[in-house]
Amino acid sequence: SMNNLQTEGSSNFRQENCRAKGGSPGFKVAILGAAGGVGQPLAMLMKMNPLVSVLHLYDVVNTPGVTADISHMDTGAVVRGFLGQQQLEDALTGMDLVIIPAGVPRKPGMTRDDLFNINAGIVRTLCEGISKCCPMAIVNLISNPVNSTVPIAAEVFKKAGTYDPRRLLGVTMLDVVRANTFVAEVLGLDPRDVDVPVVGGHAGVTILPLLSQVKPPCSLTQEETEYLTSRIQNGGTEVVEAKAGAGSATLSMAYAAVKFADACLRALRGDASVIQCAFVSSQVTELPFFASRVRLGRNGVEEIYPLGPLNEYERVGLEKAKKELGGSIEKGVSFVRK
Ligand code: NAD
Ligand code: LMR
Repeated sequence: SMNNLQTEGSSNFRQENCRAKGGSPGFKVAILGAAGGVGQPLAMLMKMNPLVSVLHLYDVVNTPGVTADISHMDTGAVVRGFLGQQQLEDALTGMDLVIIPAGVPRKPGMTRDDLFNINAGIVRTLCEGISKCCPMAIVNLISNPVNSTVPIAAEVFKKAGTYDPRRLLGVTMLDVVRANTFVAEVLGLDPRDVDVPVVGGHAGVTILPLLSQVKPPCSLTQEETEYLTSRIQNGGTEVVEAKAGAGSATLSMAYAAVKFADACLRALRGDASVIQCAFVSSQVTELPFFASRVRLGRNGVEEIYPLGPLNEYERVGLEKAKKELGGSIEKGVSFVRK
């Protein structure tokens, strides 16, 4: 019956075959934590991405409903849901890109590091699954505290013997999205025309916008620079407080995650000059991980750009950022090594 065609696994197989013959270069993408505040709009936006042929939605709750809902969208990607840890391996097998927004969000008064105790274990388990089922996949890690969860993922992959630093990226795109928005507002420009590099990490003072390198070139006063730096560093907290206990940024994060994932997929396809900021294994500073502009390619991170010329205000900010970031990285590493 029509109903069976819509729901049976075999019809998915037929759909995929049919699309493969159509010749469009589709990628297989999994979202872990797909039923959450970030996960749901992210799943919707990825279902709309023409580079995605298969979309796997994994969570420990509610994936049947989210999957049924999203699967009715008349876009190309075939959607499948996976519920609970016993389905994690099926969710991951064959994936080209894995996006991880699984874990608890902040409430007012919390720092991202306050999420460590719960989210560290979640990220470890999910990354063990990746090592086993899709060790070559590109991983976009969103779960906080990113400054520690990325080192956790790296240690898990090292333990399993599957670590390729080029393929592990902490998502700091929301900091860039915010920076573009806030700088455009101050300059009276369209945010789509503004590009602000944001380096360091993804928490408080580790978020370091390089306002001296804004494109198009502009001159901000010291007062504007201090206002913008503080607003960008506290953008997450601004949303947490406005939501007043109902969570943290979800919609702007889903937008940022898709912008970043789309860049990763275009790079996998072979597009040249795909450049974004991300928190990656790096030698740009003495720290083992650092966010800066990177060029993406078929293997993930192909090139990491240096920070470029910093002014005095940024040099002071960099020292503060490195001090906090070093501790957060160490905390993640020792969580897995201990
Ligand atoms: P949420 O609570 O709404 O959703 C989290 C989802 O993760 C839930 O559906 C939950 O069931 C799921 N989950 C929990 N344990 C899991 C497991 N073991 N395996 C798979 N899924 C599991 O939270 P949210 O608002 O979607 O935020 C998710 C995470 O993303 C938080 O840690 C948050 O701090 C982080 N975040 C990061 C950024 C960033 O810029 N990097 C931005 C926004 C949110
Ligand atoms: C953000 O920057 O919005 C996220 O990291 C969520 C948070 O806790 O602020």
